[in-house]
Parts: sequence; structure tokens; C-alpha cells
Amino acid sequence: MFQLKNDRLLKAISREPVDMTPVWIMRQAGRYLPEYRSVRARAGSFVNLCKTPELACEVTLQPLRRYALDAAIIFSDILTIPDAMGLGLEFIEGQGPVFAHPIRNENAINRLSVPDLEKLKYVYDAIRMVRHELAGQVPLIGFCGSPWTLAAYMIEGESRSGFPRVLKMMQEEPFLLHNLLDVLAQSVSAHLNAQIEAGVQVVMLFDTWGGLLDTPNYEEFSLYYVKQITANLLRNYNNNNSKIPLILFTKGGSRWLEQMATSGCDVIGVDWEVSLGEARSRVGSRVALQGNMNPGVLLESPEAVRKEVERVLSSYGQGSGHVFNLGHGITPDVPPDNVKVLVDAVHEVSKTYHAG
Ligand code: CP3
Repeated sequence: MFQLKNDRLLKAISREPVDMTPVWIMRQAGRYLPEYRSVRARAGSFVNLCKTPELACEVTLQPLRRYALDAAIIFSDILTIPDAMGLGLEFIEGQGPVFAHPIRNENAINRLSVPDLEKLKYVYDAIRMVRHELAGQVPLIGFCGSPWTLAAYMIEGESRSGFPRVLKMMQEEPFLLHNLLDVLAQSVSAHLNAQIEAGVQVVMLFDTWGGLLDTPNYEEFSLYYVKQITANLLRNYNNNNSKIPLILFTKGGSRWLEQMATSGCDVIGVDWEVSLGEARSRVGSRVALQGNMNPGVLLESPEAVRKEVERVLSSYGQGSGHVFNLGHGITPDVPPDNVKVLVDAVHEVSKTYHAG
């Protein structure tokens, strides 16, 4: 049987006792690390970096060499699915992602289908390489964007504040949007399952723009498709003799913790709009929680970082069921030494919350 040397993350997710709270960081491989910037320069572009398994493997492992992290997350992007569907992904310096062929009308939606997974083989190759290199050191997390969040980018064609085009389609042509979301839910399920078959031990869904919706629309256009995905997952894929857990992160989603807790996910990722203490009392023992330190604190002094770690841990309180993380991705201007302060403080300070 395959044994993980460090299974704190999986234990915390299933709310079994742990010695310390596990910690990893959203976007832990990224531009705040000089060694990432150097590999990124070698790759020529972000898209090339994602599509070259040796380089994607290398940057996945970089943060684990610096910090005592309890998980690796495969280096990739949520926008690889629309790219494989033929939208043509590019990243423009200072602007972010741009699609050459955005989806703006009924014809474009009717032409879409679940992508040939051969087009995403570079992701599965990178996963196999990382698993080999990790040799069981820590679990590997795979991920996808939620159908709603992918639709927001595909229709807008780029990152634009408020994503007005998807909201307009939702109001004016909801059936069209449902057709797109349906193909995306099938595509995300297939891509997550292929990542599981390639070796990821946990999966995460990023619903970064779910928070743009009001409650009825959140339930109809985002959560409904998340539930389809949780039902389609190869949960019992037996590569580590345990169920593959799913982490659901919705930026701005603290209004809907109760709905998310019954969506079939195992962990809810929360941002810093809600305290972990409140979140915990609302979800009870149905799911574990991940989060939720404000990434902005990492720009402050090491003392401030440590104090904030203490505050987040004490808000969750005693016992297992918490995966420490930021409430959103780490930003490129963070001093790398502050990340070490954070990771070490989580391990050291959390011991008292797991004693006895
Ligand atoms: O967490 C990790 O270390 C794994 C890698 C990862 C990336 N993107 C690498 C990346 C993950 C999990 C993502 C998810 C992702 N991608 C999301 C959901 C998470 C979130 O932040 O809400 C979204 C919305 C995207 C789409 C995306 N990718 C945008 C909007 C941008 C540009 C904004 C930015 O930060 O520059 C990216 C680029 C991107 N994805 C970078 C990295 C390291 C920076 C690109 C670079 O190197 O130039």
C-alpha cells in the first residue's frame, strides 16, 4: 500500500486528530519566488510554462524546497480547459488572460464540446512527474475552475471587473448560459477525474467569481453545476486507499456556507470576510474548513504575520478539521521570508490546539 510520509492534510480534511494544523498557500508557486520568475523567463510565457511538464513539475516543487508545506498543488491554470476547447489562451503582461476566440453567441456555444483530454495531457504528465519526485513526501492537489467562473472568462474574453457580459447573458439568455455551463460541468468532471487517475490525492474547485451572484442565481448558475461535479468524481479511486476529497473555494461565498456544506464537498475554502469561528459554528461537523488569512498581512512585518496566524488559529479553536491557508492567492509583491514565518508559525502555534 502507498504510504504518505506526511498525511496531515488528509487527516485534517477527514477531521481525524493531527499533531499540528496543516498549511499550504494558494498560488504557492508564483511570481513572489525569484526561482519561479527565472523558470518562467526560460519558458518564454506563462502558457508555455503550463504546457511543458518538466518546467511545470519544477515550479510545483520550488515552494516545497523553501518551506515546510503540508501539500503540493500542481502548477497549471483553470483556463487550460477553455484553451483545450479552442478559445486560444494568451496571457498579456500587466493585463492577465485573454482569449483569441471568446464565446459571445448561440452559434459559438453550440459548437463547443467536452475537449479531447489528449489536449490536456501536459497536465497529467506533469502530475505523474511531480508524484514521482515527491516520493510520498506530501499529498498532491489537482484543481479546476468552477463552470460559472470558467464561463465568466470565456464570455468576457478577458479579466474585466464585474464580468458584465456573463451577467447580461444570465439575464437575457439564461438557457444559452445553462447550455454552456452544462458542457463545462462535464468537461471539469472529466479533467478532474483524469487528474485523479494521473495521481492527485485531493482536488479543488476554484469558484473565484461565484461571489458576483445573488443567492438565487448562485444556486442556479454556480452551485447546481458544482453538485454535478461532486457527483461525477471518481471518489474511490484507489491510489492511496482512501477517498479523494474535494475542496470548494468560493471567493465572496461566506453567505452560502450552509448550501456549500451540503454540495458533496469535503472542505470549504473561505475568504477573510467571515471568521473561522463563525464559519465553524455554521457548518458544524459536516465539512472541514480551509483558510482564511488576509494575504495583505504578508506585506507587513514578520511580527504582524505571526500575530495574524495566531488570531486565525484561535478563531478556529481546538481540534482537527482546519487546513490553514490564505483567503485568496498570494500576491507577487510578498517577501518570501514572510512565507517562512507564516508556515513555521502555523506549525508551532497550532500544537496547543491539538494537545490531548
Ligand atoms: O496555486 C498554485 O500554486 C497553482 C497554480 C495556479 C495558478 N492559477 C498559476 C498562475 C492556480 C491554482 C491558479 C488558479 C486560477 N487561475 C484561478 C483561481 C484562483 C484565484 O486566484 O482566484 C484563476 C481565476 C485563474 C486565472 C488566472 N491565471 C488569472 C486571472 C491570471 C492573471 C492574474 C495574475 O495573477 O497574474 C492567471 C495567471 C497565473 N496563474 C499566474 C500563476 C502563477 C501568474 C502568471 C505569470 O507567471 O505571469
